[in-house]
Amino acid sequence: MSETPAPPVSDEGQDSDRDLSIEEYGHRAYVGPMAEFDVGAARQFNLLTMLLGLREYHHFLEIGCGSLRAGRLLIPYLMPDRYCGLEPNRWLVEAGLAKETGHDLKECRRPIFLHNSDFALRPFERVFDYILAQSIFSHTSQAQMATCLREAKAVLGPDGLFAASFHEGEEDYDGDAWVYPESVTFRFETVERIAAEAGLRCEALAWGNQNMQRWVVFRHADAEGAVAEFSDLSAAQAEIAVLRGRLESMERKGVSPADLVRMQERLRFVGEHPALQDALAKDPALHEAVFGAVSVTRPAR
Ligand SMILES: C[S@@+](CC[C@H](N)C(=O)[O-])C[C@H]1O[C@@H](n2cnc3c(N)ncnc32)[C@H](O)[C@@H]1O
Repeated sequence: MSETPAPPVSDEGQDSDRDLSIEEYGHRAYVGPMAEFDVGAARQFNLLTMLLGLREYHHFLEIGCGSLRAGRLLIPYLMPDRYCGLEPNRWLVEAGLAKETGHDLKECRRPIFLHNSDFALRPFERVFDYILAQSIFSHTSQAQMATCLREAKAVLGPDGLFAASFHEGEEDYDGDAWVYPESVTFRFETVERIAAEAGLRCEALAWGNQNMQRWVVFRHADAEGAVAEFSDLSAAQAEIAVLRGRLESMERKGVSPADLVRMQERLRFVGEHPALQDALAKDPALHEAVFGAVSVTRPAR
């Protein structure tokens, strides 16, 4: 993929409730919903730190770091020289440094960026404790995913964790090209197989994603333990907190049809989660907060 100069807007949904100009914030629009740049960053940061255990001294790599949505929280959190970012579109990183983190942080934390588009990770010349790829496999071909996972396997430490999101669907994208800003889908089994072929194990995580993507964690095939079990309740709680805030905000401002459809989708997704269903069943006030504030039909199960 060659560098993309102009900022096409991601198809992952745009909010109308914020007055952000595309001229000033095109680097945000390129990577996802402009007005959810903040919470999109928070979700990634919380997943990595609270659930997966990222500490400041770990060596961290973000694949497709874009305009530093996660980077603006992770770069200050990590010690100097610990944050590495791969991003073919150099302009996105430059916009992120200029408008999100500020150049002082670059001096202070010395993040390291490479701009290749072939998923070559070995040129960073280090072993990583954590790797992140949010909304990258929602645009790759299967061959690109395989290349990325093979490269990741080569640079992931023995106990390392690689968190990634993708659009889970009933069909696999079988084209050869990176697709953007539109998204592609893969079946979980397909991602699991491609990971296994690369020598990695794939575990599904219950962790909310703003674009209805499925989070997974890749680890070396022979790594011990599992991260999935303890993710469920924390994920549901985090999702409840986000939904509560959204619903309150919608109540205050009135609900546009597009927002309502998006919220219904999100509620459907979260509502299917067993941990959340238990919490909703036990807590009428919570049920009211999640389902009672707007006229949402709970999906049949
Ligand atoms: C949906 S955005 C997600 C950006 C970032 N992960 C985030 O969550 O804000 C997809 C990103 O992948 C980048 N990208 C495109 N081709 C790539 C490639 N071959 N390798 C790595 N990243 C790529 C795009 O430039 C863009 O920044």
